[in-house]
Amino acid sequence: MRTIRAKITLLFVVIFGFTLSAFAGALYFLYARQSAQNFDLNLSNDALEIAGQIKGDERLELEIQSGLIQQPLTANFGTNEYVQVLSIDGVIVIKSTSLRSLNLPVTPEVLALALSRHQVFQTLEKVTSSHLIKSGHLRVVTYPVFDNGIPTYLVQVASNTLILDQSLFGLRLLLLIGVPLTILAAALGGFYVAKKAFDPIDRIIRTAQSISAEHLDRRLETKRVDDEISRLSKTLNAMFDRIQDAFLLQKQFTADASHELKTPLTILLGEIEVALKNPRTTDDYVNILNSAVEEIKRITNIVDELLTMARLESGQLQLQMRSIRIDELLLDAISKTSAYASQRSIQINYEVQDITGREHEEVFVSADKDKLLSAFINLLDNAIKYSNDGSTIRVVQAAGKGTVKLQIIDKGVGIPPEDLPHIFDRFYRADKSRSSGATRRGSGLGLSIARSLIESHKGTITVLSQPGSGTTVTITLPALSVDDLAEPRTADVIS
Ligand SMILES: Nc1ncnc2c1ncn2[C@@H]1O[C@H](COP(=O)(O)OP(=O)(O)O)[C@@H](O)[C@H]1O
Ligand SMILES: [Mg+2]
Repeated sequence: MRTIRAKITLLFVVIFGFTLSAFAGALYFLYARQSAQNFDLNLSNDALEIAGQIKGDERLELEIQSGLIQQPLTANFGTNEYVQVLSIDGVIVIKSTSLRSLNLPVTPEVLALALSRHQVFQTLEKVTSSHLIKSGHLRVVTYPVFDNGIPTYLVQVASNTLILDQSLFGLRLLLLIGVPLTILAAALGGFYVAKKAFDPIDRIIRTAQSISAEHLDRRLETKRVDDEISRLSKTLNAMFDRIQDAFLLQKQFTADASHELKTPLTILLGEIEVALKNPRTTDDYVNILNSAVEEIKRITNIVDELLTMARLESGQLQLQMRSIRIDELLLDAISKTSAYASQRSIQINYEVQDITGREHEEVFVSADKDKLLSAFINLLDNAIKYSNDGSTIRVVQAAGKGTVKLQIIDKGVGIPPEDLPHIFDRFYRADKSRSSGATRRGSGLGLSIARSLIESHKGTITVLSQPGSGTTVTITLPALSVDDLAEPRTADVIS
C-alpha cells in the first residue's frame, strides 16, 4: 500500500467493484420482477382461456352454474399445468387429469377475495403430496368468472415455478461468479495500467538517484512527445543544469579563492625565508617587513572581499538604509582614492549635469552609506588602476526623473570586447598577464561585489569600453523625491 500504483489500483477496484455490483444487483432485481410478472400473466391468460372454452360449451356452463355436477369431471389440460373449476361456493366441478387425486387448496379468504372481483395469486410452499412440487414452488391463480356482474364460477390454474426458479438461479450464479471474476480481471488490468503509467516515474527516480557529485552531467531521457512525464523530465533536467552550474561555480570559486590567496602567501613566505638565511642589517629587516605588510594587506583585502561576497550571496548582508546626499558620497569616494590617484599623477574631476533644473545638492538616495561608498571606491580604483599615468578621470552626476545617473569615465586601456561580458564574474580579470604587474594587482572580485551592492540598492550598473581609448561605467540609482524627504526634515526643524 506504500506505492501510488497500489493505491490507484485499490481505488479503481473499489469504484469499479461497487458500480458493477450495484449494476448486477439492479439487473437481477428487475429481471426477477419481470419474470414473476410474466409468469403470473401467463397463469391468468390460461385461466381466461379455460373460461373461454367453458363459455363455448353452453351445456357445461349451465351445469356448472346450476350445481348439477355432483362428482368432479376430469379434463386433460396438458401435463404442465394444474387446473380446477369451482362453483362459487368453492365446490370442485372440473379438475385436470394432471392433478390426479389431489386438489388445489381454496381457503375461505381466497374465495371471498375472488368473489369481490379480484384475481388472487398464491404461492404454495408445501403441499402434502410431493409430485406437484418436485422442487420449486406452486404458483396458483384463482380467477373469478362473472356474467352480467354476477359471479358464476371460479377457475384456478397452478403451475410449478421450477423453470422460473432455475432461470433465476442460473442468472444468480452467473452474476455471483462473473462479477467477482470481472472485478479480479479489472484489478489485474488496473494494476497493469498503473504500473505502465508509473514505470517512467520509476525510471526517473532511478536516474535521479544515480545523479551524484561525480555524475552531475547525467540527465533524464526526454521523449519527443510533450506528455506529463516528458515535461517532468525536462523540468528536472533544467533543475539539474542549474545545480550543476552552481556546483561547478562553487568548485571554481574555491579554486580561484585558494589561488588568489596562495600567490601573496607564497611571496610572503619566500621573502621571510630569504631574510632568515643570513643575518641582515636593520634597514634590510625594515624593508622586508614593509614588503611583508604589503602582502598581508593584500591578503586581508582578498579575505574582506570574499567575506563581503559570501554575505551578499547568502543574503546576510544587512543594509542600514538612510537618506544620503549622493554628491557628498561621490566626493567622499574621490577623496579616499585621491592618494592613489596622485601617486599616478591622475586627476579626478567631479561634474554635475543638471537635467531637471533642480539644484544638484538636493539629490538624495536611500542607501547604506558605507556599502555604497565601497562600491564607488572599487569603481574609482579600477578607473585609476587601468588609466595611464597623468590622465584625467571624470565623475559625472546627472539627475533624471526619479533617478540619478552617475558616470565614471576614464581614458585608460579599456576592455577588449571578448572580456566585456565577463568582467562582472567573480575572479575574472581581463588579460591576466597584463594585470599581474605590480601596479595592477587585484583579485577580480571588485566589480562583482560592486554590482551586487548597487543591485541591492535597486540600482543598475553598465560598462562601455573601447580598448585603447577608455572605459565608461554608468550607474543609475533611484533618487528620493522631495515628498520622501518631507517627514525627516520637518522633524529636524522641530528638534
Ligand atoms: N576602468 C577599467 N578599465 C579597464 N579595465 C577594467 C576597468 N574596470 C574593470 N576592468 C577589467 O575588469 C576586470 C575585473 O575588475 P574587478 O572585478 O574590479 O577586478 P580587479 O580590479 O581586481 O582586477 C579587471 O581585471 C579589468 O580587466
Ligand atoms: Mg577592481
